[in-house]
Amino acid sequence: MFRTGLHYLLAGGVVPNVLSSVLQPTPPMGFNDWSAFMCGLNESVFVDTAHSMVDNGLLAAGYNRINLDDCWSSMERAANGSMQWNTEKFPHGLPWLTNYLKNLGFEPGIYTDAGNLSCGGYPGAYGHEELDAQTFASWGFTYVKLDGCNMPTGTEPEYKAVYGKWHSILSAMDPPLVFSESAPAYFAEAANLTDWYDVMTWVPKFGQLARHSRDTLVWNSTLYWPNIAVRLARFQRPGYFNDPDFLNVDHFDYTLDERKSHFAIWATLSAPLIISAWIPGLKAQEIEYLTNKEIIAVDQDPLALQATLVSQDGTFDVLTKNLANGDRLLTIINRGNQSASHSVSFSRIGIGSTPAVNVQDLWTGSQSYAKNQITASNIASHGTAIFRLSPIGKECEVIPTGVIFNTYSLTTLTTSHGQISWANSTGTDGQVWQTREDGTIRNIIDGGSCLTELKGGKVVLASCAGTTNQQWDYLYSGNVQSRSSYNCLTEEADEAVVTADCLYEDNIQVFGLPSGVAIVED
Ligand code: GAL
Repeated sequence: MFRTGLHYLLAGGVVPNVLSSVLQPTPPMGFNDWSAFMCGLNESVFVDTAHSMVDNGLLAAGYNRINLDDCWSSMERAANGSMQWNTEKFPHGLPWLTNYLKNLGFEPGIYTDAGNLSCGGYPGAYGHEELDAQTFASWGFTYVKLDGCNMPTGTEPEYKAVYGKWHSILSAMDPPLVFSESAPAYFAEAANLTDWYDVMTWVPKFGQLARHSRDTLVWNSTLYWPNIAVRLARFQRPGYFNDPDFLNVDHFDYTLDERKSHFAIWATLSAPLIISAWIPGLKAQEIEYLTNKEIIAVDQDPLALQATLVSQDGTFDVLTKNLANGDRLLTIINRGNQSASHSVSFSRIGIGSTPAVNVQDLWTGSQSYAKNQITASNIASHGTAIFRLSPIGKECEVIPTGVIFNTYSLTTLTTSHGQISWANSTGTDGQVWQTREDGTIRNIIDGGSCLTELKGGKVVLASCAGTTNQQWDYLYSGNVQSRSSYNCLTEEADEAVVTADCLYEDNIQVFGLPSGVAIVED
């Protein structure tokens, strides 16, 4: 197997042998009605969906949650202040529904909003937190999604206080309820990302998953928006998952290859797999890939790592991460308009000296043998190749390897002709970096040169000498800090790579590093 070193296991600060005490050690899987039904939800949607998921094998494959989204309630609270369900939509009532779902083998979840009104205009929970949590639990729900529309003032400290209050309530219940937090999405598109980064530092402490950015498309929309999950890999750990939103796999605008990519990318990220589609209407080919055991195992891998980018060249996005049994994942997305092949060298995905690896194609199950590089042949336009790699023969070391990029500007640390700079991603070897256990950062072209901080703050590549000005710590804040000056790596406006006084989660100092790098918690 690949030898990963203790630092992998400690990445994110969680030791695997405590996993059993974590409420949601692997990403939740299941169904939510929103993308397919929006406010048109009702009892039969959930009953029919549940029966269909039993019959078509989705439940057996692990999709065991059924979550109600917005618009399930009446427009008014009851005289005693409690929430009440809409009796036309739910004629038998929600306790009946949760019981029905549990008898089929599902865990039911419900939606509410941290503010005064939900996003759809229904009563919000602000000021009613304790009562609403007790009500949801008494109705049989075991999971709460807390949206963040219509907060009284909308400041970051206010979100923190309200989400913190929900955390205290839900985590003290017996049993505790799973807490899905939408707070980060409300800060994701600001010109200054400090608040977004700040929210991301507390959501993993409060709950089990957090919606970090915009919604995936609802059924009648084609307003596409880039998914920005890759910026947040460092926050994920067993028990907490970045949530890039639903698998809306029956969207009319997606080809089959795009749907399969959607699923494979979410699994690569170890993201929640919550299907939002009309499940009784899904075709057999849809069920077939959604129940792919090998890809679900990648999503549910106990290390819970979010894969990170190895390279981006405008056509191919390459992602990689370690898996708990010592294997390595390789995912290649073809963004291009025609089918094409792509090769990735072992050094790009951090595989040290090994003669060869066994390559399992997770779509087909076929096994092959690769030396020095892995080639994905004829990846369909907008399709995704996904491989599990195991070394053949002796153990071999894996080094966290990939791009180092500013998560605001998306420029990438680049070496070219002896100069380093922050540049756009082009997929060259000069943009692929090793983050070694000894704190050094080395480009894959020249393992003898280290990222070096000079007096005055200029950063260059120089021969590795084992000195502290060549050793860097990756902090939970996203800062990359010199062990010599304790200053932070910084992107200057002219693309210069320097160090400067560490600022608080500032746009110019927050970076994404390869998954598996040790993360220093505050
Ligand atoms: C959005 C949320 C969606 C859905 C909707 C309901 O803010 O991101 O997932 O819950 O509100 O109104």
